[in-house]
Amino acid sequence: MAVKRVLLAYYEQDREHARLREGRGRLEFWRTQDVLRRVLPPPPARVLDVGGGTGVHAEWLTADGYHVDLLDPVPLHVERASRLTGVTARLGDARHLPVPDESADAVLLLGPLYHLPERADRVRALAEARRAVRPGGLVAAATINRHAAVLDAIHLGHYLDERDRRAAHAAAADGVMLSPRRGFPAYFHDPDEVAAEFADAGLRGARQYGLEGVFWLYGDVDDWLDDPERRALLLDAQRSMESVPSLLGVSGHLVTLARRAR
Ligand SMILES: C[S@@+](CC[C@H](N)C(=O)[O-])C[C@H]1O[C@@H](n2cnc3c(N)ncnc32)[C@H](O)[C@@H]1O
Repeated sequence: MAVKRVLLAYYEQDREHARLREGRGRLEFWRTQDVLRRVLPPPPARVLDVGGGTGVHAEWLTADGYHVDLLDPVPLHVERASRLTGVTARLGDARHLPVPDESADAVLLLGPLYHLPERADRVRALAEARRAVRPGGLVAAATINRHAAVLDAIHLGHYLDERDRRAAHAAAADGVMLSPRRGFPAYFHDPDEVAAEFADAGLRGARQYGLEGVFWLYGDVDDWLDDPERRALLLDAQRSMESVPSLLGVSGHLVTLARRAR
């Protein structure tokens, strides 16, 4: 309960709304969009966006013609998302989805898994996604890579602070990230672990996509993203390497997906 209070207090500062809309966060946004547009069933289809935040993905999914039902435990996020035309947004937790069996064509978990430090909770969230999606439908989940904290701390210079350095290496060792800057625990996966959690939830044959590749750590990545021509080249380059096994773990984020067996 205390963890939930700290999590709510963090997100109630309204930091999430801009995260993927500016700076290098745009790389995660455009790459997520690029992967999802290739794997989602064609619109119109029913998409359940679990942990959908303020609706950063719900917005373009609705514009593409999908029917989006967004769930999130943070009231501010739900309030912001429900202002988006065509998006239904309500409070909800990935571990207990308030939806009927087989009621969605695709379930997105672009956030909840790294907020659940206990493996049993993550498998439960995936099993709930499996229950909610129709046979043949898609479950897609985002995770943060195990070594992202060390890589990013050096990139941002936080590595010079001993508390940040220790927290980043502790996350690299066992996955549990206790950031001195956030105050609530997160979980950072190895790519193989995510596929195993999918399998334990009854979702077999997982495919994985590195979202940012190494490019999120380039000092001039904003210049590439600002210029439409260079951005297209960068996104193409990462698409060409997105599922190379030896590169999966260098991205900040990974998307894992599987289709529910019939
Ligand atoms: C970093 S944000 C990602 C938001 C958005 N999906 C995106 O891709 O940008 C993580 C989201 O997960 C939500 N979240 C945290 N714990 C959750 C849980 N147990 N069930 C569902 N959502 C959760 C948070 O409220 C937050 O909106």
